[in-house]
Amino acid sequence: MSATAISFDDVRLSLGGDRIYDSVSFSVRAGEFVCLLGPSGCGKSTSLRIIGDLIAADSGAVSVLGRPPKEAWSDIAFVFQSPRLVAWRTAIANVLLGVELRFGKAEARRRIDRAKSLLAMVGLADSAGKYPLMLSGGERQRVSIARALAVDPTIVLMDEPFSALDPNTRRRLRGEIERIWQETGKTILFVTHDIDEALTLADRIVLLSNKPTRVLEVVDVPAVRPRALKSDPTLIALHERLNTLFRSLEPDSQTEDPQP
Ligand SMILES: Nc1ncnc2c1ncn2[C@@H]1O[C@H](COP(=O)(O)OP(=O)(O)O)[C@@H](O)[C@H]1O
Ligand SMILES: [Mg+2]
Repeated sequence: MSATAISFDDVRLSLGGDRIYDSVSFSVRAGEFVCLLGPSGCGKSTSLRIIGDLIAADSGAVSVLGRPPKEAWSDIAFVFQSPRLVAWRTAIANVLLGVELRFGKAEARRRIDRAKSLLAMVGLADSAGKYPLMLSGGERQRVSIARALAVDPTIVLMDEPFSALDPNTRRRLRGEIERIWQETGKTILFVTHDIDEALTLADRIVLLSNKPTRVLEVVDVPAVRPRALKSDPTLIALHERLNTLFRSLEPDSQTEDPQP
């Protein structure tokens, strides 16, 4: 049994008089890839903000590597939907920015070789000197993944990191993040509202309800990797079940690549 990396226990939260969480409980084990799946507005990004100590829950217990979020920030890195790169910094200088902010310029200089190897890991070995404007959307997001890894976090929190990309790039990056996760052994909590994405990536899927939010189900995804969504009978059955549940939550949602 591996250790618990993140846990929410009966977490309740209101924001601006709006009840966001009724009672949210789930956990992520060390080294696990967990997808938080839920309709828009149910509080997926909010949960990452709580873990990153950007906001506090009203009640309940949140633990990150056995500590309160306030004491765990240095073990966490974020990847957002938009890569948030600094336009006047090269790719490698962007990768080192997080290190610079957390540990200072001297430490960033010491990690240049590490930043280069991270750029290579995300397929950008030859683009270290390019500025964000010279990179495609997918390449920029790769830089932001390398930037997250450069601080050597134990946990990577990803908030719909591929949803702004075109479908082909999105598919490719899903494959890459799966490989990077396997190579690095990081714990990944990945927010998505895309069932296919969750089934492609997750060891377990935490399905959230509409507001006020509860965990509706925690779904184990026992399929081998890389996943064959269209042909693996287990995945087809899980897709159908999640799709039915999800449609009842978000009647207007179009899930990508529905099964025939
Ligand atoms: N600072 C805030 N004040 C009031 N309401 C907020 C604030 N931040 C988020 N919310 C509300 O909390 C809910 C959850 O937001 P969010 O976590 O961004 O949802 P998701 O990421 O699942 O789409 C939404 O209804 C949003 O309007
Ligand atoms: Mg969000």
